[in-house]
Amino acid sequence: MSFNGVSQPFNLQAPMAKIYTIINNKGGTGKTTTTLNLGAAMARLKKKVLLIDLDSQCNLSSALGVPHSEPHVGSLMLNSVGWDEVMHDHDSIKVVPGSDKLLEYEVMINSEPGREYLLKEALEKVQNDFDYIFIDCPPSLGIYSINSLVAADHFIVPMQTENFAFIGLDKILTVADKVKKRLNPQLELTGILLIRYTSRIKFGQAVVSNIESNTQIGKKILRTKVRQDINLMESSAFSQTIFEYAPKSRGAEDFMQLAKEIRKLYGEK
Ligand SMILES: Nc1ncnc2c1ncn2[C@@H]1O[C@H](COP(=O)(O)OP(=O)(O)OP(=O)(O)O)[C@@H](O)[C@H]1O
Ligand SMILES: [Mg+2]
Repeated sequence: MSFNGVSQPFNLQAPMAKIYTIINNKGGTGKTTTTLNLGAAMARLKKKVLLIDLDSQCNLSSALGVPHSEPHVGSLMLNSVGWDEVMHDHDSIKVVPGSDKLLEYEVMINSEPGREYLLKEALEKVQNDFDYIFIDCPPSLGIYSINSLVAADHFIVPMQTENFAFIGLDKILTVADKVKKRLNPQLELTGILLIRYTSRIKFGQAVVSNIESNTQIGKKILRTKVRQDINLMESSAFSQTIFEYAPKSRGAEDFMQLAKEIRKLYGEK
């Protein structure tokens, strides 16, 4: 708000967090690895980061050593707990855990009026406390993933180059398009992130050129590609981010580069 062109002091409040959902309806495409390590890279860049585990497999919560019992993101969405009860710490990162109960909670969430807006409504209460919020989606386009697309400003689609992950990409893009038209006009595709990329494998190259030649999505492949790195797999098993487990690894290098690419895309230093 301004008076005679002069900004009022209360306009100087902290900017709202940018919310990214990491989404792909296919399983095992690198969603959790990306949420975890992109979040950790932003935290290394001294940003305040919140991670949300929307998956009943709870891989993100496990990878951060966070308990995934009650309360969890489902209770938060149904407004039955407060933020202070559901937020955990891992290093400087804040985490809201998932739960295997999320499948049961889905029934309750589906019968709520405005069911697509529940996560957005919950995040609005803490959006001023963070610079970035990253959401890890389950491998489906059900009500949790839709909630994440409604709450987010941006979405990132990770896909592995070594399998047929690109099949079905149009499905996510179509759903995201509908969400943008009907529920969240702000929603933008940040890009498609190639994971486990190895230029030595012919098939990987073929997949990349196939996508690049697609006029609709070809320009949306992020410049940073996350290379194959066993440290990324091992670090989660030890409940650590790649920056804790192997700070000099290719994985750490790639996720730091991705964080910087994303900041640059939106004109941030
Ligand atoms: N660049 C990489 N190099 C080696 N392994 C990787 C890499 N990226 C991810 N992985 C491994 O691939 C597997 C799948 O990754 P991840 O769990 O992140 O996928 P996901 O999309 O979250 O899966 P789901 O759909 O089941 O939630 C994991 O074992 C992970 O450690
Ligand atoms: Mg996952």
